[in-house]
Amino acid sequence: MAKEKTVYICSECGHKESKWAGRCVACGSWNTFTEESIKTKLKFSSSERNSEPVALSRVTAEEKGRIDCGSEEMNHVLGGGLTADSSVLLGGRPGIGKSTLLLQTAAAAKVSSILYVSGEESASQIKSRADRLGINPQRITLFIETDLEKISSAVRSVKPELLIVDSIQTVVCKEAGIIPGTVNQLKFSACELVSVCKEIGAALFLTAHVTKEGVIAGPKLLEHLVDTVLYFEDGADVLRILRAEKNRFGAVDELGLFTMEENGLKEVENPSCLFTVSREGALPAGVACAMIMEGSRMLPIEIQALVTPAQSSLSRVFSDKIDGKRVSRIAAVLEKHAGMKFSDRDLYVNVAGGMRLNEPAADLALAVALHSSRTGIPVPRSVILAGELSLAGEVRPVRFAEKREKAALKAGYGRFIGPRRPDQPASSKNSPNTVSDIGDCIRKIFRAPDENGSPK
Ligand code: TYD
Ligand code: MG
Repeated sequence: MAKEKTVYICSECGHKESKWAGRCVACGSWNTFTEESIKTKLKFSSSERNSEPVALSRVTAEEKGRIDCGSEEMNHVLGGGLTADSSVLLGGRPGIGKSTLLLQTAAAAKVSSILYVSGEESASQIKSRADRLGINPQRITLFIETDLEKISSAVRSVKPELLIVDSIQTVVCKEAGIIPGTVNQLKFSACELVSVCKEIGAALFLTAHVTKEGVIAGPKLLEHLVDTVLYFEDGADVLRILRAEKNRFGAVDELGLFTMEENGLKEVENPSCLFTVSREGALPAGVACAMIMEGSRMLPIEIQALVTPAQSSLSRVFSDKIDGKRVSRIAAVLEKHAGMKFSDRDLYVNVAGGMRLNEPAADLALAVALHSSRTGIPVPRSVILAGELSLAGEVRPVRFAEKREKAALKAGYGRFIGPRRPDQPASSKNSPNTVSDIGDCIRKIFRAPDENGSPK
């Protein structure tokens, strides 16, 4: 008989304790511990596999085939299609469009058979969605089930080329307790589904809801069990952004861009004007454009800053799309190296189109936007920037600067401002578009240092 052991697991980060605690020491969340029992003799398909140690020199590398998902954007994010027998976790807030994306993928993927398991919706709800999307259900077998054992045996008997499970939080493994969605349930169910798919050579998509904080509900632990983790995120309005957070078979910085329309998700054909705002005349103060590289795509992205007198004795940062700590760091660099006081101000930062910006190359445009809002002096509309800022105020080089410059000029920006590239002569530091530090950048953009240096 299986032995039972009780553990307490944090539902936010998966941290385990042998005793209940009010606050998780690993992630700081309150009241997130749930009691779970682990039977130590769970049987998993993976444990039945035979393997033995082998010399690396005797191993032949096999190139796995890729499945065309029938969507350029999806293929792009996956690194050139879905790798055969790989597992993909698709996370996103409830209602963002995960089920829609996967039903469309099921219909368009170049595979002979698909098993679509849903624990979230009824067969007729899925059929209505399929009708709304106008898709051909020919190769799709539907299975409305939440019991892991039944799902596994259906997968073994149907032997689909692609399995979709929507969502992993609804799957229940009897041996891991009776409540769906607990950390144990998620781990055991995901582990079993991944290994059944490897066994029959099927590719797997699992969906998972994320919590308000953006963490895949329950454990980060699931991310280690799958080959690829994709997040579906909100852009402005109907824009949806698909990102790879982890990818064993490709790069993680590629973006997939969709819009949610009346009849499903449409791929965005021309993304270059999605993240800027079209205006007549001069830019308002507080706006600056960055030339961002997301995967293989170059995108001009507008950063908007608003600097106001602090509401309380503490300066606060309100920024959803750029990490707040990064905004504070850039403000501190401006304070130290451009003589601009921010410590008595509240800082609001936004990114046009709702893009989440992680690229260090956005530092310079963020600094210039903050400076512009603080002084009330707008940035000339021909300017676009790319550069990373060091704590010492220097502008550090960015990857693919030449490519960015070309893309910027093509998009109609007359002045691409960034650090000197290694292939440019030392004398180019005097060029109005080559900047060595934040002070130099501000002088060159706003031209009259004496007027602009002192904040209003
Ligand atoms: P859904 O795929 O059910 O989201 P998730 O699986 O992530 O919870 O999508 C739900 C939302 O998408 C819902 O608000 C309706 C909207 N939607 C459209 O706007 N157009 C469509 O064609 C479909 C199918 C859904
Ligand atoms: Mg859904």
